[in-house]
Amino acid sequence: MHAHGMSPRSAPRTVSRMRVVFRGGPLRGEVRVAGDKSISHRALMLAALAPGLSTVEHPNRGADVMATRDAVQALGAGIDDRGEAILVRGGPLHDPSGMLDARNSGTTARLMMGLCAGHGINAVFDGDASLRRRPMERVARPLRALGAEVHTTGGRLPSSVRGIVDPPGGEFPLEIASAQVKSAILLANLRARGPVIVTGDRHSRDHTERMLRRFGRQITFDGRTIALLPGELSPQTVRVPADLSGAAFFITAAAITPGSDVLLREVGVNPTRTGFIDVLRAMGGDVDVRDERELDGEPVADIRVRYRPLHGAVVDGETVVRAIDEVTIIAVAAAHAEGTTRIRDAADLRGKESDRLTTITATLRACGVEVVEHPDGLDIVGGSARLPDRTLHAFDDHRIAMAVAALAAPLGDHAIDDAACIDISFPGFADLWSRAQAA
Ligand code: S3P
Repeated sequence: MHAHGMSPRSAPRTVSRMRVVFRGGPLRGEVRVAGDKSISHRALMLAALAPGLSTVEHPNRGADVMATRDAVQALGAGIDDRGEAILVRGGPLHDPSGMLDARNSGTTARLMMGLCAGHGINAVFDGDASLRRRPMERVARPLRALGAEVHTTGGRLPSSVRGIVDPPGGEFPLEIASAQVKSAILLANLRARGPVIVTGDRHSRDHTERMLRRFGRQITFDGRTIALLPGELSPQTVRVPADLSGAAFFITAAAITPGSDVLLREVGVNPTRTGFIDVLRAMGGDVDVRDERELDGEPVADIRVRYRPLHGAVVDGETVVRAIDEVTIIAVAAAHAEGTTRIRDAADLRGKESDRLTTITATLRACGVEVVEHPDGLDIVGGSARLPDRTLHAFDDHRIAMAVAALAAPLGDHAIDDAACIDISFPGFADLWSRAQAA
């Protein structure tokens, strides 16, 4: 199936050459990592829809969130980007004059498809070579069910959406426990005439639900079922917590490198995201989540981590959903743990920025770690990791690049040759990393 209005041009190549040397050694001191990527996307989208002036403070400034900022601007939202804060004048949005380029960002593509589908917007979506490989029918199907016309290119980008103005509402069963699919459905139904019920969730991240409540909507959610009532959005000021998924690299490196003691400030600890902390603790990690408080509708805390020897664990079921972006860094912890770690129920990782089960396996094996790859997971035998005899590359996947930094921390200095992709979610990572190592 070909999406009309889309040129069959070849996918742009992702170029991400940049050599960075990560020093080995303990991490110490205090760190505030980049703002939460998921929350930043949602804050910008709801700010664009809420009539009036909203402010998103401490947004994640990675390339993915910038793709969303530019997409909502292309739909008519007023954007005044001051770096530390993005001011958004929301209101009625309109068709973009050109294609919406989600670049490397699955969240931009999938959530914006939902937003357009329910706000009468006609748009064509595309992305970079990596995003063009990722599945889009998972959002296209429920959007068609509510009446929008959606075409994909063999289930992938480019895609086109012909939106409708006032969807009827109703019940939407989730085919997979994906926060992106759930969020696309909710964004598509913000102007629904009746209540909207989404069923079949399995504790996927609930930032959209929380952000909708923050922007004035009546919504209930319990990890399984979401119920959204008809209503309006009102503009807000939202401060974005630090990203637990970015903090995870510091947390893990500190947990596996003798002499480490780091304190991460104001990190989001939403329970739908903390599967990784549960796993690290189950492996024996010394992770102290302290001073838990609320920041504009999201729980945050300071997290202190000290080195302590780890042992293997079993990671599966809903824990994987609650740690979906941390499975690669859990694999790194497993490589430095005593015994075997078994990861299962993680097949969805094959559809991320890279096939993360394959790319982390290749990375670990290059460091002498014994790994068995399964269709939906990994068995990792810890204790034999050593520095590789060649420069590693990260398959243009930001989370693999940062995982390499943590993997090498207890071993010694190590370089990767495609570090530019880190800017997808965590600009400034290399500087923060060397500061924590010098502290
Ligand atoms: C995200 C949801 C997850 C996650 C992605 C961000 C989100 O994807 O892997 O990095 O912001 O909603 P899925 O919903 O496809 O699991």
